Amino acid sequence: MPESLSGKVVLVTGGAKRVGAAIVRRLHREGASVMLHYRGSEREANALRSELNAARANSVALVQADLLDLAGLAEIVRNAVNRFERIDALVNNASAFFPTPVGEMTQATWESLIGANLRAPLFLSQAAAPHLKKTNGVIVNITDIHAERPLKNYVIYSIAKAGLAGLTRSLARELGPEVRVNGVAPGPIAWPEDGSFDEVARQRVISNTILRRTGDPDDVARAVYYLIAEAPYVTGQIIAVDGGRSINL
Ligand SMILES: NC(=O)c1ccc[n+]([C@@H]2O[C@H](COP(=O)([O-])OP(=O)(O)OC[C@H]3O[C@@H](n4cnc5c(N)ncnc54)[C@H](OP(=O)(O)O)[C@@H]3O)[C@@H](O)[C@H]2O)c1
Repeated sequence: MPESLSGKVVLVTGGAKRVGAAIVRRLHREGASVMLHYRGSEREANALRSELNAARANSVALVQADLLDLAGLAEIVRNAVNRFERIDALVNNASAFFPTPVGEMTQATWESLIGANLRAPLFLSQAAAPHLKKTNGVIVNITDIHAERPLKNYVIYSIAKAGLAGLTRSLARELGPEVRVNGVAPGPIAWPEDGSFDEVARQRVISNTILRRTGDPDDVARAVYYLIAEAPYVTGQIIAVDGGRSINL
C-alpha cells in the first residue's frame, strides 16, 4: 500500500473510544475512510463520526454489533463493502478483559473472552479475506504482551490473546502473498475503566516498564498505521508497544 491512506477503507472493531478511537483517528488523519464498529458506546461513536466527517465529508460510517453474535460477523464486513465499496484493512481491536481465576471459570466467561478476543477476529478475517485479496490489504490484530507471558488470574483472557497471536501467524501463511497479517501487542496504555487496577497495582506495572510510564493510545495507533501503510515486507509479526515491559516480565 502507498504511504498515504487516501482512497483506502479500514474497518476497526471497538473503535468508539480509548485505543480503538485513537486508531480510528490516526488512520483517518492519514486519509482513510473508516467503518467504525462499536457495541454499546453509541454516544462516543456518534460523536467521533461527527467530528471526523466534519473534517472530511462522508469518510466515517458506523456499524453496531455484538461480536459474540457469530452469525452477524459477516454482516459487519458486508456493511463496510456496501458503504465504501472496498476494504483495505481490518483492525481487530475490540476486546473483553476481566479476571477468571482458577475455580471461577464458567462457560459464560469462556464464551465472552474467547468470543470477543479470538473467535470474532477469526471469522471477521475470514469474511474480509476475499475483499482484502482484491486490494492487497492488511489485517492487524491487537493482541497483548500477556499473550506470551500470562497475566496472573486472567487465565482465559491470556489464552484468548495467545490464540490471537497464533491466528496472526496462521493467517499470514494462509492469506499471503496477497494479504499481510500482523499484530500489535500493547503493554500498559489505558487502565481498565472498572477500577480493577488500583494505584498500587498501577505503580507496580509502571515500575516494570523500562520507560517508567504508561503509553498513549496513539502509540498503539502509530504501530497500526506503520503495519498498514509502511511495512510492505512485514507479515506474520507482532510488535510490542509496551515501554519495554515485556522484557521485564
Ligand atoms: N488498554 C490497554 O492498556 C491494553 C493493554 C494490552 C492490550 N490491549 C488491547 O488493546 C485493544 C484496545 O484496548 P482498550 O483498553 O481500548 O479496549 P477496551 O476498552 O477494553 O475494549 C474496546 C472495545 O471493545 C468493544 N467490545 C468488547 N466486547 C465486545 C463484544 N462482545 N462485541 C463487540 N464489541 C465489544 C467495546 O465496545 P463498546 O464500548 O462499543 O461496547 C469496547 O469499547 C484490546 O484488544 C486490548 O486487549 C489494551
